[in-house]
Amino acid sequence: MEKLKQAHGNYVEGDRFWGREDDLRLFQKKIHEGAHQVLLAQRRMGKTSLMKETARLLNDSYTCLYVDLQKCRDSADAMVELSKAIYPHKKLWGKVMGAFSNIVGTILDRIDTINISEIGVTIRGGLTSADWSDKGDQLMAILAGSDKPVLLFLDELPILVNRMLKGDDFTITSEKRGKADDFMSWLRKNSLQYQGQLRIVVSGSIGLDPILRQAGLSATMNNFPPFELKPWDETTAAGCLNALAKEYGITFLDDADKAIVKRIGCCIPHHVQIFFDSILEACERRKRFEFKADEVEGIYEKEMLGVRCQKELTHYEERLKTVLGPDLNTLAVEMLSEAAITGVLSRKALEAFRKLYIFEGYTGIEAQQEIISVLEHDGYVVPGNDGYVFVSNLIRDWWKKRNALFYTPVLEREV
Ligand SMILES: Nc1ncnc2c1ncn2[C@@H]1O[C@H](COP(=O)(O)OP(=O)(O)OP(=O)(O)O)[C@@H](O)[C@H]1O
Ligand SMILES: [Mg+2]
Repeated sequence: MEKLKQAHGNYVEGDRFWGREDDLRLFQKKIHEGAHQVLLAQRRMGKTSLMKETARLLNDSYTCLYVDLQKCRDSADAMVELSKAIYPHKKLWGKVMGAFSNIVGTILDRIDTINISEIGVTIRGGLTSADWSDKGDQLMAILAGSDKPVLLFLDELPILVNRMLKGDDFTITSEKRGKADDFMSWLRKNSLQYQGQLRIVVSGSIGLDPILRQAGLSATMNNFPPFELKPWDETTAAGCLNALAKEYGITFLDDADKAIVKRIGCCIPHHVQIFFDSILEACERRKRFEFKADEVEGIYEKEMLGVRCQKELTHYEERLKTVLGPDLNTLAVEMLSEAAITGVLSRKALEAFRKLYIFEGYTGIEAQQEIISVLEHDGYVVPGNDGYVFVSNLIRDWWKKRNALFYTPVLEREV
């Protein structure tokens, strides 16, 4: 039986990467065909891991560049991150230095003795809001001329576009919209020009669609077909649990593995991993490494809904606020509490909320549609028969646990 090491750090690759054989195969097929793609999935589904693992597997036939745009504030920052990703590829890097010669001239004599972060600071200092796109075009031309085809992963692109669009005060101005437009148009232009030489994959922990829609830029990505990553099926999730158990000396008795999978319901890889981690911790504490099916509920209640709750939800909530801004976020929190606590976010409840909230620049329905599209992307809710319901029992229970005491269902409120 196979063994698997637990995840450490944010993403997994190599001997920590489990399953997803079909996803890897299909994703690579599209890459070989020369397609650009948007990698779509709910939060914590393993998007970054799939990109990293693909880069590892295709390293011989492609020049793979992984760029994390999370910390970038503007297009020039993004160009610096792109340059930094090229740095390990010495032949290409030589050309990058040529393109930036006017900027790095002052440090050229000691360029071999300073590290890439320092070079990055110098490049950033020399880029202006007027010339980043020319330099960016040059970078893309260098990549397109590479011996091996280039596979460029742009992770957290939606975070960058969102930041460009809304700044720190969450207001969209025509100037900010223009900057987001410049960046997306630059990306589109290069993706079209170098189709076949460059394969670009974009992804992010927040959905790109709602943000592009807010910016009026939806058309800029229409040459990036979506590739969707789903939760693990039960067999894959149980296989992962067993491989972890084997590695750490745990024995599952009376189909405990199946009981765990059933309890998780929607098998988002990260949730499977943290469930196992809770079990391992409990086993280590009691120094007994057999784990029975009738212990699953206790771990779920005490651990998954206990210490894990706060940490995991913080992760989700922080993203929600980033996309929606503080005002819409207040209503989003209520809509989620309604779904978690009453079991469904019904049409009547949505109507009732519309009477309580007024947003500048949106009709009530538009505001709610905006929120729902983000909640769907983040993996909170899906449309059910009578309204929106939580996808994952675990996320619903987390949300319920956190908010139940502070929440009165909207239809029960006195007016
Ligand atoms: N293929 C996999 N094998 C094993 N564990 C995985 C796999 N994919 C994801 N995980 C687990 O999920 C965690 C999150 O993975 P990753 O960061 O790739 O997800 P993501 O979709 O990029 O998340 P986010 O939405 O926060 O950006 C990993 O740390 C790991 O615990
Ligand atoms: Mg990620």
